[in-house]
Amino acid sequence: MNTLEVTGVSKTFDTPSGPLPVLERLTFSARKGELICILGPSGAGKTTLLRSISGLDRPDTGSVVLRGSEIDGPPEHLAFVFQDYSRSLLPWTSVVKNVELVLLRFSLMASERRERAMRALESVGLADFASSYPWQLSGGMQQRVAIARALAYDAPLLVMDEPFAAVDAQTRAELQDLLLEVHGQIESALVFVTHDVDEAVYLADRVIVLSKRPASVSVELDVELPSPRDQLVTKADPEFARLRTEVLSAIRH
Ligand SMILES: Nc1ncnc2c1ncn2[C@@H]1O[C@H](COP(=O)(O)OP(=O)(O)O)[C@@H](O)[C@H]1O
Ligand SMILES: [Mg+2]
Repeated sequence: MNTLEVTGVSKTFDTPSGPLPVLERLTFSARKGELICILGPSGAGKTTLLRSISGLDRPDTGSVVLRGSEIDGPPEHLAFVFQDYSRSLLPWTSVVKNVELVLLRFSLMASERRERAMRALESVGLADFASSYPWQLSGGMQQRVAIARALAYDAPLLVMDEPFAAVDAQTRAELQDLLLEVHGQIESALVFVTHDVDEAVYLADRVIVLSKRPASVSVELDVELPSPRDQLVTKADPEFARLRTEVLSAIRH
């Protein structure tokens, strides 16, 4: 069974200037543990798609099925990492409490909750900052806290909306490698949205290119680059260049 099945999802917003079709019969699936990068131009409908997948918005038609159950509200089996980390962490409480917060819905003892949060912080290299406040950390570190929070939740599906768009290039490369490393240790499928072609090819097992609005799937590409990936070695691989060109031409057409 696939972890996620998105079938024929369409969504039109009512706006003051009339109906705005944003998603049009969008169909794709994610296997267990698969890392899918969804690529599309700004305004294509990527965030709208993720909001539909995560039950924050209801599609007009079509269905989203997570591990065999149709989604009709924010499901328990999904963790979301937003683009804007500065708004996704609570500034008035510590890093570890920010992670623990998502575990409150499970009936865990306080000590178990703390343990699970600390394990997640360790896996993103932030155990030493557990009692810091988010605003004491750099942007890249704050986004690592947001990733730790998603990991602590232990969901079969992780959804990330351009999570590295707001950090500098060096930090971004480090976060990409961190994400690959932690994703390699868990069984969750990951749907990762980006508008960066290199990022998509570097991270993905499969790249899905969206058409411009209203978005539908225009191209799907399997990425068979060897793992573990490496910023220098992988990007110098002729296969990387070939995939990159194929994705770019799909975006142009
Ligand atoms: N709640 C909403 N009401 C009306 N229009 C919306 C709403 N959410 C998004 N849109 C519009 O839908 C289009 C796609 O938005 P979005 O999914 O955020 O694109 P992306 O994430 O690919 O940049 C944009 O034109 C945006 O203005
Ligand atoms: Mg967006």
